[in-house]
Amino acid sequence: MPFKILCVAAARPNFMKLAPLIRALSAEPKFETVLVHTGQHYDESMSGQFFRDLALPSPAHNLSVGPGSHAFQTAEILRRFEPVLLEERPGAVLVVGDVNSTLACALAGAKLNIPVVHVEAGLRSFDRTMPEEINRIVTDSISTLLLVTEESGWANLLREGIEESRIHMVGNLMIDSLRYHLAKASQSDVLSRLCVRPGRFGLVTLHRPANVDDPKQLLEIVAALNRISMDLPLCFPVHPRTRASLKNVTCSPSIQLVDPLGYLDCLCMMSNSAVVLTDSGGMQEETTALGVPCLTLRENTERPVTVNQGTNRLAGTSTASILLAWQLTLTNPPVGRLPELWDGHAADRSVACLARHFVNTPASVHAAIA
Ligand code: UD1
Repeated sequence: MPFKILCVAAARPNFMKLAPLIRALSAEPKFETVLVHTGQHYDESMSGQFFRDLALPSPAHNLSVGPGSHAFQTAEILRRFEPVLLEERPGAVLVVGDVNSTLACALAGAKLNIPVVHVEAGLRSFDRTMPEEINRIVTDSISTLLLVTEESGWANLLREGIEESRIHMVGNLMIDSLRYHLAKASQSDVLSRLCVRPGRFGLVTLHRPANVDDPKQLLEIVAALNRISMDLPLCFPVHPRTRASLKNVTCSPSIQLVDPLGYLDCLCMMSNSAVVLTDSGGMQEETTALGVPCLTLRENTERPVTVNQGTNRLAGTSTASILLAWQLTLTNPPVGRLPELWDGHAADRSVACLARHFVNTPASVHAAIA
């Protein structure tokens, strides 16, 4: 009997981390993979397009939770996920990242004594006003196996008292996806559709509640973007959360506001942009892998390796600090290097680790870690 592992897909940033893992698990006969979509992200631009771009299989279960407050969303996923666990009786539940679904599904599994695997464990911004930080801390504390993307994650978990034997450095699954899809993404016609030229535009994304829900804060950031757009035209795919807040703010005509991009289009835009200005966690990593300068519009990052080794710079969230970081980028463009194990083989290492932990290690997996 193969070992059944139930993988949770939920929200846009997690689809690209799951895709290479599901591909690698499906190639390993010792595993049976069941995909569950919580429906936290549910519409075409935030979910459907990503399933197609990444060739993710259709989920066996869709909890269709949709939007709501944190308490509502988390509780509703917890409630709807438990019967799936009781029906499927998996050997392990695998959750990814730091969204509300990650926390809810980890909790449902742990309460049924089903081992929980957390992919992208140990990242810490040390800012507990971020909903994601709470989700990370709680998920890590109840997970059996913690798969880590960067050195800081390992150190954070050890400091929090997690046994070393449960922590495994596997590298970065998001970069597996990036490498796998980059050639195809480069054929996208998105540059001509959006009338931008390679290397001659900046890409902007914003969706953190702390940046977009408070009108005064959003105004600080948009004032900086308006100024930067005088030097470089900007393209800004607008997240649904940000769409409503932006109605009260005037963006310069040199900032092109567009609908959210699919995965391949976004990768194409990112790899051709002169700079990325973002509050996304994933784009800090992707720009480091691509060697594209990134200005992170936050005061902190849970991904310090992108600053210490990559091309990321913390720009803060005030108009003045963002403009200062922009000037520094113009005069002193960052030169980064690829962090350890961001080599496109994180999925092989993750499967090898799951096999070692849950089933006898087959020869093919030995080959993958060799
Ligand atoms: C969530 C995650 C965040 C992640 C982000 C990526 C949490 C706590 N937050 O934030 O960590 O970086 O996803 O996008 O889990 N909406 C749509 N269509 C969709 C999905 C959402 O219109 O497919 C709308 C919702 O109705 C809501 C807003 O977008 O109004 C926010 O969605 P929500 O899932 O609550 O949180 P995000 O801000 O996307």
